[in-house]
Amino acid sequence: MVHLVLHLILLLLSCFPSLTHQACNSLDQESLLSFQLYISSSSLNWSSSSSSDCCLWEGITCDASGNVTHLMLPSKGLTGTISPSIGNLTHLSHLNLSHNRLFGPLPITSFSSLIQLQILDLSYNSLTGEFPSTLLSNHIKLVNLSSNLFNGLIPSSYFQQAGNLMSFNVSNNSFTGPFPSSAWTYYFCSVRLLDFSYNDFSGQIPPGLGNCSKLQTFRSGFNNLSGPLPDDLYTATSLEELSLAVNYLSGSISNGIVQLKSLTTLELYSNQLTGLIPKDIGKLSKLRHLPLHINNLSGSLPPSMQNCINLSTLNLRVNFLQGDIATFNFSMLLQLRTLDLGNNNFTGNLPSTLYSCKFLTAVRLTSNQLEGQVSPEIVALESLSFLSLSTNRLTNISIAIRSLMGLKNLSTLILSKNFMDEAMPDDDHITISDGFQNLRLLGFGGCQLSGKVPAWIAKLKKLQVLDLSLNKISGSIPGWLWTLPRLSYMDLSYNFMSGGLPKEFSGLQALVSEEVRNEVARSYLELPISVMSVNASDRQYNRLLYLAPTLNVSNNRLSGVIPVEIGQLKFLHVLDLSHNNLSGNIPEEMSLLTNLERLDLSGNHLFGEIPWSLKGLNFLSWFTIAHNNLQGPIPSGGQFDTFPNSSFEGNPGLCGAIVQRSCLNHPPTTTGLALPITESSNKELGYGVIDGAVFGLIIGITSGALYPLSKLKFLQHSSVGADFSDFSFLLSLGAVFIGFLLVLMMLVWCFLACHRRSMCFEKVVYMEISSLDEAEHSSDAIGAWLTTDAVAVRSLVGDALALLVQNIATIVAGLVIAFKSNWELTLLILVLFPLMGISEYSRWKSFK
Ligand SMILES: *[C@@H]1O[C@H](CO)[C@@H](O)[C@H](O)[C@H]1NC(C)=O
Ligand SMILES: *[C@@H]1O[C@H](CO)[C@@H](O)[C@H](O)[C@H]1NC(C)=O
Ligand SMILES: *[C@@H]1O[C@H](CO)[C@@H](O)[C@H](O)[C@H]1NC(C)=O
Ligand SMILES: *[C@@H]1O[C@H](CO)[C@@H](O)[C@H](O)[C@H]1NC(C)=O
Ligand SMILES: *[C@@H]1O[C@H](CO)[C@@H](O)[C@H](O)[C@H]1NC(C)=O
Ligand SMILES: *[C@@H]1O[C@H](CO)[C@@H](O)[C@H](O)[C@H]1NC(C)=O
Ligand SMILES: *[C@@H]1O[C@H](CO)[C@@H](O)[C@H](O)[C@H]1NC(C)=O
Ligand SMILES: *[C@@H]1O[C@H](CO)[C@@H](O)[C@H](O)[C@H]1NC(C)=O
Ligand SMILES: *[C@@H]1O[C@H](CO)[C@@H](O)[C@H](O)[C@H]1NC(C)=O
Ligand SMILES: *[C@@H]1O[C@H](CO)[C@@H](O)[C@H](O)[C@H]1NC(C)=O
Ligand SMILES: *[C@@H]1O[C@H](CO)[C@@H](O)[C@H](O)[C@H]1NC(C)=O
Ligand SMILES: *[C@@H]1O[C@H](CO)[C@@H](O)[C@H](O)[C@H]1NC(C)=O
Repeated sequence: MVHLVLHLILLLLSCFPSLTHQACNSLDQESLLSFQLYISSSSLNWSSSSSSDCCLWEGITCDASGNVTHLMLPSKGLTGTISPSIGNLTHLSHLNLSHNRLFGPLPITSFSSLIQLQILDLSYNSLTGEFPSTLLSNHIKLVNLSSNLFNGLIPSSYFQQAGNLMSFNVSNNSFTGPFPSSAWTYYFCSVRLLDFSYNDFSGQIPPGLGNCSKLQTFRSGFNNLSGPLPDDLYTATSLEELSLAVNYLSGSISNGIVQLKSLTTLELYSNQLTGLIPKDIGKLSKLRHLPLHINNLSGSLPPSMQNCINLSTLNLRVNFLQGDIATFNFSMLLQLRTLDLGNNNFTGNLPSTLYSCKFLTAVRLTSNQLEGQVSPEIVALESLSFLSLSTNRLTNISIAIRSLMGLKNLSTLILSKNFMDEAMPDDDHITISDGFQNLRLLGFGGCQLSGKVPAWIAKLKKLQVLDLSLNKISGSIPGWLWTLPRLSYMDLSYNFMSGGLPKEFSGLQALVSEEVRNEVARSYLELPISVMSVNASDRQYNRLLYLAPTLNVSNNRLSGVIPVEIGQLKFLHVLDLSHNNLSGNIPEEMSLLTNLERLDLSGNHLFGEIPWSLKGLNFLSWFTIAHNNLQGPIPSGGQFDTFPNSSFEGNPGLCGAIVQRSCLNHPPTTTGLALPITESSNKELGYGVIDGAVFGLIIGITSGALYPLSKLKFLQHSSVGADFSDFSFLLSLGAVFIGFLLVLMMLVWCFLACHRRSMCFEKVVYMEISSLDEAEHSSDAIGAWLTTDAVAVRSLVGDALALLVQNIATIVAGLVIAFKSNWELTLLILVLFPLMGISEYSRWKSFK
């Protein structure tokens, strides 16, 4: 039996002459050896080959008469250029040299002799030069030049020769110029696949596409195309994939698109499309992917969309869509996996029909106007891993937390800027012990929640990112926060936290140990989140790895010293301890934080010298110790030469070229006379302003009103009678003027300070909220604006000091004048003086 089979096989084999060793055509063999001369490769063994028959060489196939027809050497590590001798392989029909390291231009004239060529794949090399338009073979079926460095135009005429072309892929090169329109205006359009994406094509998409009745895939994303979608596009009814993302396309998506019944992917994100989502889009029942985000689409979700029952990805974020989201029926979209409706203007409650979509893994409804509560029904979404509801108007955080805790797969939860002024849910309400076990990212920023850092966070052992900024959290930083082993990004800024910094940093394993850090680095996010980066520009992240390891406790009321143990956090990139009440020295150990890019210690009461070892922090690009009580020489050299002098201002004891104080004339002092001026918290500043204004008003009014009154009284009793040229009366008028000036100055100062400060605070809120997930509409300008405003506020606070000095001077002068003219009045002012003192003191306190 076996013999019989073998005989049969032998018989079959003998029927194929190609396998009966027709020796290789000698011209082809020489051409191949010449081809090999131009390249080096460790894996290509043609010349060392025992066989002299090139048809047996690796990657070569010959036809019956020994002519080479296939040259297939993908991923062979070929390095070098393509030899012109390839043109002698005139019977070549398949050429695949993809995934190598070939460079230089193609030998254009040689390619024109390859008249039998059908399949050409040169993708993933570093080939340069122009498109080989002499590639005129009318047998050519497939061209793949993608991921090379080709440039220049693709001549329209090319396609007129290529009547059999079915697949044309030039993606990821640097082709320029107008779109090669003849791609489809030729009467005979047989093409099925066109991929022009990732180039620099510009201008409009010319009409004619509709004539390509076999076209299935059309990609031209990531170019510089403008103008509208051509109308006849909608007659190419075989289209399954239409991808034109990231261009400058404008106009609307016509309802005519519903003719493309085969469409499964309609990818038009990042354009400037306006108008409504086609109202009959439900007729595209095969649609799976609908990414239309980052456009100017308006109107509401068309109800027919609920018929797109195979829809898996629906991304409409950053548009101008509106309407009550709860009226849309999601319950038929059972295949839905990703839903992103963020940054629109949707209203209403969270849609309860959404809870039928059991396969949902990522939901992002950020930045809408949703209200109501998170329903306990949400636990039905068993696969949900990513949920961002930030910047809405949701209420009842306790119910939200209790419901969401039941989602076993939840790993990203962002609820920032909701639940305004509620109480932070703590253990009294949260009793589920095994909830949130997979949570990696938790964001509650900007909710103005009161209470303490909730103790249940201690159980989240997988937590990597924690944002509790911009709340009203009081109490001390609990020591267990430092024991979350994977935590590498923590933002507690803008709260009311007091006490010292816990010392036990070694518990933050992700910032201490390389091993844990690498483990953490593998995490990815289902949908990108925006984070205000350390350079104050809005960045999108889809890997937590790219989020700079951060410890931010700024703008609290922390006191005590900076623990020397902080030096253990050697993977930390951003450390912000600014605007607290920290005292003591800058520990020498800080120089162990060798990955630090940003270090902010400003606005504390630190004293002593700046450790010279900080010069060793080679990645430090932002550093400030402004407004402390530091003294001695500023280190020079290294990164220290790149910091602006504002990084050191407000430390009169510091010396060095940058602050223009010579260290020779400035022996180190033991006590700084500098008054640490820090940006006080909003509330304190508010009190100070009110205090100041009220007392200023009292003083101003009394000194303004009483002085002339007493003068009048004095005049009544005077035997001399009214004398308007009386010098002392002029003086009294002067005092009135000064009094009113005082009131005015107080009011102006108050207005400015309140106004600027609240503006600034709003912006900070915005920034920090975008700090976890928001806004593509925002821009770098916000960051820049914030910095300028912070400077403005600081200088206003400084101005206030100057004003205080000025006030005292004015009042003293007024006293002297008053004493000279009228002792009754002087007495009055003397009574008022302590009151003024109290007012100034309270303002003073508020700056500290
Ligand atoms: C050339 O190397 C390949 C493996 O890279 C091997 O399969 C083939 O037999 C070798 N050919 C000759 C003729 O040595
Ligand atoms: C092989 O090439 C030779 C010379 O170019 C030619 O004469 C012959 O017809 C070719 N054989 C086939 C099967 O094309
Ligand atoms: C192949 O073609 C080149 C020019 O295209 C020519 O110079 C050469 O002699 C031909 N023969 C071989 C074996 O390379
Ligand atoms: C070329 O070879 C690579 C690697 O084997 C393969 O992925 C690719 O599909 C081939 N190209 C064509 C057009 O068949
Ligand atoms: C080149 O593109 C064609 C068509 O798009 C595709 O079939 C082929 O696999 C691609 N080659 C590689 C290496 O991906
Ligand atoms: C584009 O090509 C470069 C190098 O050739 C490659 O690294 C990159 O991944 C490619 N991009 C795409 C989108 O294919
Ligand atoms: C074009 O080629 C690139 C790389 O070879 C591939 O990734 C891409 O999927 C191809 N385009 C189409 C539409 O097949
Ligand atoms: C489409 O094809 C028809 C003939 O089938 C032709 O008359 C028309 O001009 C073509 N359209 C374009 C834009 O080339
Ligand atoms: C993109 O196109 C616009 C005109 O539509 C042109 O001004 C701009 O320079 C182009 N950009 C690139 C990178 O080609
Ligand atoms: C949805 O997808 C399934 C599985 O791919 C397919 O069998 C079904 O026909 C599709 N439904 C529609 C309406 O296209
Ligand atoms: C789209 O909206 C942006 C932001 O409001 C606006 O600047 C732009 O001009 C709009 N574009 C169009 C085409 O309407
Ligand atoms: C959002 O909707 C509200 C109420 O429906 C409206 O007042 C507001 O102007 C809208 N905002 C935008 C940006 O469309």
